[in-house]
Amino acid sequence: TELDHIRNFSIVAHIDHGKSTLADRLIQSTNTVSEREMKEQLLDAMDIERERGITIKANTVRIEYIAKDGEKYILNLIDTPGHVDFAYEVSRSMRAVEGSLLVVDSTQGVEAQTLANVYQAIDADHEIVPVLNKIDLPASEPDRVREQIEDVIGIDASEAMLVSAKSGIGIEETLEAIIARLPAPQGDRDAPLKAMLVDSWYDPYLGVVVLVRIMDGVLKKGDQIKMMQTGAKYGVDRIGVFRPAMQNVDELGPGEIGFLTAQIKQVRDTKVGDTITTEKKGCEKPLPGFKPSIPVVFCGLFPVDSAEFEDLRDAIEKLALNDASFSYEMETSAALGFGFRCGFLGLLHLEVIRDRIEREYDIELITTAPSVIYHVFMKDGEKIDLHNPADMPDLTHVDHVEEPRIKATIMVPDEYLGDVLKLCQDRRGIQEDLTYVGGRAMAVYDLPLNEVVFDFYDRLKSVTKGYASFDYQLIGYRQDNLVKMQILVNDEPVDALSMMVHRDRAEMRGRAMCEKLKDLIPRHMFKIPIQAAIGGKVIARETLAALRKDVTAKCYGGDATRKRKLLDKQKAGKKKMRQFGKVDIPQEAFISALKMD
Ligand code: GTP
Repeated sequence: TELDHIRNFSIVAHIDHGKSTLADRLIQSTNTVSEREMKEQLLDAMDIERERGITIKANTVRIEYIAKDGEKYILNLIDTPGHVDFAYEVSRSMRAVEGSLLVVDSTQGVEAQTLANVYQAIDADHEIVPVLNKIDLPASEPDRVREQIEDVIGIDASEAMLVSAKSGIGIEETLEAIIARLPAPQGDRDAPLKAMLVDSWYDPYLGVVVLVRIMDGVLKKGDQIKMMQTGAKYGVDRIGVFRPAMQNVDELGPGEIGFLTAQIKQVRDTKVGDTITTEKKGCEKPLPGFKPSIPVVFCGLFPVDSAEFEDLRDAIEKLALNDASFSYEMETSAALGFGFRCGFLGLLHLEVIRDRIEREYDIELITTAPSVIYHVFMKDGEKIDLHNPADMPDLTHVDHVEEPRIKATIMVPDEYLGDVLKLCQDRRGIQEDLTYVGGRAMAVYDLPLNEVVFDFYDRLKSVTKGYASFDYQLIGYRQDNLVKMQILVNDEPVDALSMMVHRDRAEMRGRAMCEKLKDLIPRHMFKIPIQAAIGGKVIARETLAALRKDVTAKCYGGDATRKRKLLDKQKAGKKKMRQFGKVDIPQEAFISALKMD
C-alpha cells in the first residue's frame, strides 16, 4: 500500500468515555468483520476486561475504508488502555502511530486521564482530532466541553467531531476526518528494515506474537531478523495483520502495523521498544528506545492451602509469560509458608493478576499488604532496595530511609474539593497546585506512593461519590522518617502484616490495625493479645477475649436447615483461615486490617 493511503492512529480517552465502543463502531462500519462476528466490545478480549469494562492490553486492528474520494485507505488503530497503571503501554503505542482521536464524553468533560493520555499524544507529536462522544444523551454539553478542551488542554477544538459511538452518529465523518486531518506515515521502502517492537504477548497456539510497526524497509516471511538491543536472532515464521482476527500476509512495508512470529521462547526475550532489523545488511542506528516498565508495587501471594503451592507456581509462570511487566520471585514467610513476592505496575495490575490466578487457576490466595520499594541507607554505607517490609534491617544499623513520591493530578467537581484536600493532607501530601476550570477543580499533589498504593483510589472514589479522576507519575525518592511496624498476634509477629509507616503516624495506624484485627479474628478458647510494635516497643494493644461457643446455640435448637447452613458457613470460613501459632486468622483480615477509614 502506498504511504499516502495509510493512516495510523490511537484513541485516547478517560476510562468509560467510550473508547472501546467507538473502536467497535469504526470496525463495524467499515465491514471489517461481519455482523455475526461482531460482538460488543470486540477489542476487549480477556474475560476480566469484559467484566470490568476496562482494556488491559493494547490491541490493534487494521481497517479498510473506501473514502468519499473513492480511494481505499488502510487505517491502523492501536487501542490503548485508559487506566493509570498502564500509562506506559499508552506511551509505547503512541510512538507507533502519527495521530490520535481524543475522545471526551460530552456529558462529563475532560478528566485526569484524558489529560495524562493526551499529553502523551502531544509528546509523540501527534495530530489530534477531538471527538465529543455520547451526544445522544440529553445531558450532553458539547459547547461547554469544547471550550474546556481548549482551556485545559490548549488544542483547537472548534472542529471537534460530534459523535454517538453507541447509536452510530458521526462515525462516517470521523473516518473522513482521520483521512483528511491525520498525516500519512513516512518511510523508505528501499532502506534497510527498521521496525519498532511495539508489544508482545504469548499465544497458546502461535507462541510469542510480536506487534511491529515498520518504519523503513520491508519485512518478509522467512527473513532472518535481529533485535538490535538484545542481539537475539530469529527466522520469521509468519507475518500478518489484525482484522481484528489474525490474517497472514506476505510482507509488511513502511507505515504498516502488523505481527510476526518466530521461534521466540518467552515474552521476556522481546524488549518492548527494541528495533528489529535484518541480520544481514541491517540498519545501523536503532530507533530511540523506550524506558523499560518497572514494577512499583509489590506484595506477597500465598496459597491459602499450602498444598497448592506448585499450582500457584505454575499459574504465575504462565501469567508472566504473557506479561513482561509482572515480576515474581519465591518467598517464604514464617507464618504463610511458601509463596511468591510479586511486582506490579500498580494496584489495578495487582488486582487483575490476583483475580486471574483465583479464577482461571482456581487457587485461593492470601495477598499481603502492597508495598513500594524503599531505599534503605545503612550506617556502613550499604544501600538496600527494600521490597518487603518484613526484610527491613534492625533500625540501629539504619542511617536513613527514602521512599518513592508521586505527582498526583486529581480533577473533581468543586463541591467535593474539601474532602479531597483533606484526604491528600491525611496521606502526607504536599499541595503543588490548585486551579479551577469549568466547575471543576484540578489539584496537583506531591504524595508518598506508599500512602497511595493501598486504598487511596477507593477512598477518593468514595469521598467524591465517584466523580473524581486521578492520575499519577513517579517523581523520585525522598528521605522521611519511616519505620517498620510489626503486628504481633498472641505474641507472635505476623510478617504478612508488617508495614513501613511514617513515625508520626505509627501510633494511629497501629491502634487502628489492632482494633480492626480484634474484630476480624474470631474468638478462641484463650485470650489473644494483638499488638503493634516498632523495633520491640509496643505502641498499641488490644485484647481479644476468650470465648468459644457452639455457633448454632443461637438458633435455639430449632430449624435444622438453618443450623446446617450455619455449620457449612463456619466450615467454609475455616478453609479460608491460616494458623498463626495457635491462632486462626481469616484471609480477609490481611487486606481489611490495612484499610484506613
Ligand atoms: P475503557 O476501554 O475501559 O478504557 O473504557 P472506554 O473508554 O472504552 O469506554 P466504553 O467504550 O467501554 O464505554 C463506556 C460506557 O459508555 C459503556 O457503557 C458504553 O455503552 C457507553 N457509551 C459509549 N459510547 C456511548 C455513546 O455514544 N452514547 C451513550 N449513551 N453511551 C455510550
